[in-house]
Parts: sequence; C-alpha cells; structure tokens
Amino acid sequence: MRKKIIIGNWKMNYTITEAEDFVSSIKDKINVDFVDVVICPNFVSLYNISNILEGTNIKLGAQNVSWEDKGAYTGETSAPMLVSSFVDYCIIGHSERRTIFNETDEIVNKKAKKLLENNIKPIICVGETLEERESNKMYDVISNELSNSIDGISKEDMERNILIAYEPIWAIGTGKTASAEDANKMCSFIRSKIEEKYGSKIAQSIRILYGGSVKPTNAKEILDMEDIDGALVGGASLKNDFVAIVNY
Ligand code: 13P
Repeated sequence: MRKKIIIGNWKMNYTITEAEDFVSSIKDKINVDFVDVVICPNFVSLYNISNILEGTNIKLGAQNVSWEDKGAYTGETSAPMLVSSFVDYCIIGHSERRTIFNETDEIVNKKAKKLLENNIKPIICVGETLEERESNKMYDVISNELSNSIDGISKEDMERNILIAYEPIWAIGTGKTASAEDANKMCSFIRSKIEEKYGSKIAQSIRILYGGSVKPTNAKEILDMEDIDGALVGGASLKNDFVAIVNY
C-alpha cells in the first residue's frame, strides 16, 4: 500500500520572514498520520524553515540542485549544501526549469544521480504541452522524458527513493486541472513504463504524483484515484488551502 504524499512547491515566493510566519501558522494544523507532507521553499529560507519544522513530521524539500558537488559554478547550490540545510527531497525537471532555464532530460538525470548520492529523494517532474496533448503525442513525450530522466538509476533507488510527478504544462497555474480520470490514466501509463523496465514490484511501490491546479475542491477526487499517490501543489501551497489539501 503506497502512502499518499502532498508536496508544496512554493516556487519563487516568500521572503525568509514571510516563509517563517506562514510555516509557523500551519505546522500544527497539519495531520501527518495518514499522509507524508513536504514543503519546498526557496533556497534562502531552507535552513530557517528546517528549524521551525524540527519535531514535526513535515519534511523539507528544495526546488532545484546542481549536478556538481562544488567549485566555480556561480549561482548554483549543491546537494551537500542541501543536506546541510536538512533537506530530504528535491524537485527536479519542473517544466518551469525545462522551458525557462533550458533544462534537458540529460541535466535532470545528472541531478537525480547527484541527489541520490547525497541521500536526498528526487521528485522528477514530467509533463506535456497543450499542443502535444491535442496532437496526441503526450504518451510519447512522457515516455521519453521519463526514460531519459531515470536512465541508469538502480532498482533499489527506484523502489525506495525516486518519486515521479506528472504535471501537464497546460494545467500549471492556469486553474485548468486535468480530469481525475485523465490524470490517473497518465499516472497509470507512467507506472506501466516503469514496470516494463524495472518489474512489477518496483512499479507497484514507486509513488507517482499529479500536479497542476490542485486545490481543496478537487484534491479528494484526484487523490482517490488508484494510480495517483499524491499531489505536487503550487499556488495553493502558499495559503491555508494547503492545510485543507493535506487533510482532504
Ligand atoms: P499550480 O498548483 O499553481 O498549478 O502549480 C503546479 C506546480 O507547478 C507544482 O509544481
């Protein structure tokens, strides 16, 4: 039985003080017995938020990482630096990073491996554009993104450490949600691809999330789906709505 997981991706929002105030205001309202909960603030707030989350079951995640350990890479943040901020999870390959910052599947793959080396769980995002969906190319797109991003990752890591998030690009920040059935169909397709490569035990244990305009009003319908093991929440994770989603 896969435990559901709700992850808040704050994107580039909240200063350190705003982040501290918000987390302090919600942390006691989150019931974490039946779901895992992860909050992904901006890099500069990570360490302070780790202090506020101490003693709770809410985990900390980052939104990006470098594939290098250290050195002359101005502006980058390494996996060991994330470890020193008590980060357990890290989002990689978000469509905003792929489209605005030109991240390729190869880069996502290198980042995933670097995170695993440092015992941080990668949340690998995949998703199709509206044009790709309308021209029925979405299964090919997702299949390619997935297989390139997980290339060379061991069975053990797939079973225990990797999470996949299906985020259709047209549903991100638009208020348009994929129907629960469509989202489930794609998550089930992703699981079948993992089964082809790694076998059914691993396919049945890996957690596959949906992201894209998840809100309190649609969370239950989405999270009740058989192949959807959690939600990657953007805008609604910046408000009290996040509490309502977690307690769905
Ligand atoms: P929204 O929930 O704001 O649509 O964002 C989804 C997302 O990109 C989460 O990573």
